[in-house]
Amino acid sequence: MKMIVAENLVLRLGNQEIFRVDKLALARGEVLALVGPNGAGKTSLLLTLALLQKPTAGTVRFDGETANRHNLLALRRRLAVVFQEPLLLDTTVWGNVTTALRIRGIPRREANARAQKWLERFGIAHLARRPARHLSGGEAQRTSLARAFALEPEVLFLDEPFAALDLPTRNALLGELGGLLREAGVTALFVTHDYAEIPYVAERVAVMYGGRIVKNGTVREVFGEELLAQKVWVPWR
Ligand SMILES: Nc1ncnc2c1ncn2[C@@H]1O[C@H](COP(=O)(O)OP(=O)(O)O)[C@@H](O)[C@H]1O
Ligand SMILES: [Mg+2]
Repeated sequence: MKMIVAENLVLRLGNQEIFRVDKLALARGEVLALVGPNGAGKTSLLLTLALLQKPTAGTVRFDGETANRHNLLALRRRLAVVFQEPLLLDTTVWGNVTTALRIRGIPRREANARAQKWLERFGIAHLARRPARHLSGGEAQRTSLARAFALEPEVLFLDEPFAALDLPTRNALLGELGGLLREAGVTALFVTHDYAEIPYVAERVAVMYGGRIVKNGTVREVFGEELLAQKVWVPWR
């Protein structure tokens, strides 16, 4: 069963066509990377698939249900989005995770247990009492990721979550995220402009250019053995 199916999806803003995607699907438990240069339309497509942007035409089907104005809010509660900027509340690390869970109606005991679990998984349990405004960029993004995982969404959307981080921080987080995505078996769309990030997190990749999906397949199919063998690539895993 497909978790997300987009069909004949078009977004037009003013007189500009931002993207046109005939078909894009994510199977349950699959991590799909969406890669392309700045301005390709990746964020616009992600927001549309995450039901935060209304398309001009076409449909998004979520776990078999076509999104419409009646079920939109209920469907949104089943997904989570992580942005390049962590968008944290002005409270502690702990407060950021538990508040998000409480807003979704998760009982306090369960919220506390999940917060503890995911702060540990992302290596920031020792920062639980720290105000979010005193975090480094990497710590803030760990908090944002822990919050999203703690929601246990059916689909996780990640829009260039590491683009603002320095290289060592980015590399550490990429490796950890790849492992946690596989372990949690979560369905995810990982957007990046950086091809080198893909093998860490995804098995399949869609390449976006000028508002179109120009390639779509396994990482090997899309980039080929030759490119994967080049030293610019991270080791295959
Ligand atoms: N709210 C908006 N109004 C008008 N144009 C927009 C808006 N948001 C994005 N765009 C345009 O859509 C195109 C794709 O943007 P975006 O989805 O942010 O691409 P990416 O995330 O791949 O960098 C760009 O040309 C951008 O200028
Ligand atoms: Mg973007």
